[in-house]
Amino acid sequence: MTNKMMIAIDGPASAGKSTVAKLLANELGYIYCDTGAMYRALTYEALQKGINLEDEEALIILLEKNAISFEPTEKNQKVYLNNKEVTEAIRQPDVTNSVSAVAAHSQVRKELVKRQQKIADKGGVVMDGRDIGTTVLPHAEVKIFLIASVEERAERRYKENKLNGIDTPLEQLKKEISDRDYKDSHRESSPLTKAEDAVLLDTTSLDIQQVIGKIKEVVSSRIS
Ligand code: CDP
Ligand code: CDP
Repeated sequence: MTNKMMIAIDGPASAGKSTVAKLLANELGYIYCDTGAMYRALTYEALQKGINLEDEEALIILLEKNAISFEPTEKNQKVYLNNKEVTEAIRQPDVTNSVSAVAAHSQVRKELVKRQQKIADKGGVVMDGRDIGTTVLPHAEVKIFLIASVEERAERRYKENKLNGIDTPLEQLKKEISDRDYKDSHRESSPLTKAEDAVLLDTTSLDIQQVIGKIKEVVSSRIS
């Protein structure tokens, strides 16, 4: 198998992107890049510093001061903002509910896309996000667009939150997910959308291993 493949996985919130991307990258011996974590890390720092999330210039200055990096661990990966570990902090509800506003700024996107493309430079990468197949890696050999019903996605997030001691009611999660999907799909700058050449995969009734199995079929078909 070539080491140079780029695999782009996009889709709405809680469709299973990061879970399958991570496992797939492990199996293939590829780098995993969670682009959502980069938007989250910037949002986290902006909230910490009391920066107005509509102030794009201030966000860019903040971004310039902060390197965002990943450290793979056996099961997961750690996220760092300069030397500060922010893995857990960037998953907190205040960050989740503010991140789409930060991600809507075109200059913020331009800078983060540049960093993401640098990570993918040598190939051998599985990258997940919202605009990977359309904007970050338009020439990726494999493009997958994962979807699932909003009820199923809220249910998945609910269970995940419970495990992490967060108790947000299911109905609220459903609303938050729908709101974020709407903002991500309707922003002007590279909105969430399926690339024409992406394979659409509805995971509503598929478990994680079934999804990985289907993606591997696509990967194999691209190799041959
Ligand atoms: O894991 P979850 O689906 O909740 O979200 P995420 O992948 O961590 O992404 C968080 C947010 O970052 C998204 O709702 C988008 O607003 C933004 N994002 C983006 O605009 N472009 C990307 N490539 C990745 C994330
Ligand atoms: O990255 P994204 O927001 O698209 O989703 P995720 O964080 O990978 O998945 C959200 C939750 O759904 C996790 O707890 C996964 O274990 C779970 N999941 C699932 O139950 N079935 C799937 N087919 C995919 C993910």
